[in-house]
Amino acid sequence: MNGKVHVMDHPLVAHKLTILRDKDTSVKDFREIVSEIGMLITYEATRDLPLTEKEVETPICKTTAPTLKGKKFAVVPILRAGLGLVDGVLRMVPSARVGHIGMFRDEETLEPHVYFCKLPKDVAERDIMVVDPMLATGGSADAAISALKERGCNNIKLMVLVAAPEGIARIQSSHPDVDIFCGVVDKGLNERGYIVPGLGDAGDRIFGTK
Ligand code: PRP
Ligand code: URA
Repeated sequence: MNGKVHVMDHPLVAHKLTILRDKDTSVKDFREIVSEIGMLITYEATRDLPLTEKEVETPICKTTAPTLKGKKFAVVPILRAGLGLVDGVLRMVPSARVGHIGMFRDEETLEPHVYFCKLPKDVAERDIMVVDPMLATGGSADAAISALKERGCNNIKLMVLVAAPEGIARIQSSHPDVDIFCGVVDKGLNERGYIVPGLGDAGDRIFGTK
């Protein structure tokens, strides 16, 4: 069975994505809004975190109330653009560890190349959220997830802001165990592998490198 695709159906996410699509949005605003949407998607993507009960004394009385069970969690951005989402995830899950996978797409072949991989030692025991603003051909996310599985990870989710149907199909075929959480699914890819209508090169827009 394929992993589920959870598309955020929320006016705040829709509104913020439109600001990101606008080519005139400043680097500062772009960066801030990527982080904000990251926070909103994290809210949805962590719905299944296990809870336990603890005793707490309110100003009125003693009671028991839910608290996170403390399952180990790690966020793994695909460099560079994925870095833009880390802050949003950490604001929701401050104790998360952060691993990094550096990957770039060859502009000609669109094939991903790994240039860096640094992960927490106990990564195999952690629930993993791979983050990248763009899922285009799916090559980068596919390779990043494979690298994590080679290191023993078996509970992986993928968070993206904009997904192309081609990228979703690739992840569902290569990694049917991985659920995808995305802000929106766009029409498809152009001849240069860019998402249409998309928002352009997410890394360049986050870091102002264009
Ligand atoms: C972008 C983006 C994804 C990848 C998506 O990164 O952030 O990682 O392309 O494309 P794919 O689904 O076809 O693999 P890019 O390679 O431009 O590197 P950057 O983050 O350094 O800008
Ligand atoms: N990477 C990006 O940053 N944007 C796209 O549209 C496709 C890949």
